[in-house]
Amino acid sequence: MGSLSTNQRKKVTLGTLRSLHRKGEPITVMTAHDFPSGHVADHAGMDVILVGDSLAMVALGMEDTSEVLLDEMLLHCRSVARATKSAFTVGDLPMGSYEISPEQALASAIRVIKEGRVQSVKLEGGKEMASTIRKITTAGIPVLGHIGLTPQRQNALGGFRVQGKTSDSAMRILEDALAIQEAGCFGMVVEAVPAEVAALITEKLSIPTIGIGAGNGCSGQVLVQIDMAGNFPPGRFLPKFVKKYGDVWGESLKAIEAYRDEVKSRQYPAPEHTYPISSEELEVFAKAVKDQ
Ligand code: KIV
Repeated sequence: MGSLSTNQRKKVTLGTLRSLHRKGEPITVMTAHDFPSGHVADHAGMDVILVGDSLAMVALGMEDTSEVLLDEMLLHCRSVARATKSAFTVGDLPMGSYEISPEQALASAIRVIKEGRVQSVKLEGGKEMASTIRKITTAGIPVLGHIGLTPQRQNALGGFRVQGKTSDSAMRILEDALAIQEAGCFGMVVEAVPAEVAALITEKLSIPTIGIGAGNGCSGQVLVQIDMAGNFPPGRFLPKFVKKYGDVWGESLKAIEAYRDEVKSRQYPAPEHTYPISSEELEVFAKAVKDQ
């Protein structure tokens, strides 16, 4: 399938996502962190664009996702929202903006919608977040859950570790999934969980699961755009589940090196990159310069 020009596509809504889920058609989700990455993901026909707090690490160079602030997320949500004409948009609630109370979470979610201009929010956590999810959804703000590996809690989890590798821990993930579905999530990201566990959980739910490192049995998939497009220097660590579909960093490097060489050798700018002046005007100006 080639690129889907945005004006050929109808706006994706929660109804569209429900219909894809009902038909068993995989839901495509991609992160975007700024205007150009939102633009390209929308043009490529993504169903959902997520302004994830992976922003912190892959786009802002922070150590982990706990560092990014709500105000910073809002700036990036706004720029992605401006670029996105068709995809359904989701903005992450960053760590510290929703855990204190359902009221704090609702206040932050309202900012993400009103100031970030996206259509829904995502938050991490299982059954302990049920009352928070209920509070946000009853205010008319759709919530995407996030269970399994929850990167904002990496200190408690002992790092970025696969979750649900024992029957007990897999059962806890299922309980979390059922609790956040009951609380009103329209779907949930399931991260770094064995494929078979994620597939069994997906079968038990009436809302879609969006897998990342959770195998092919989820209702949809999400990847971080900078990772999947290869927009990073060689040698950077990549999680096992990431498939590198492109080499954006390599292409940018080639282009910038060629520009550097052409500027140094005065090949660039060539005449076709410059603005004309009539020979009469030029003659007058050149004489005036000489006479000064
Ligand atoms: O922050 C993010 O980009 C995410 C996705 C990886 C699901 O949460």
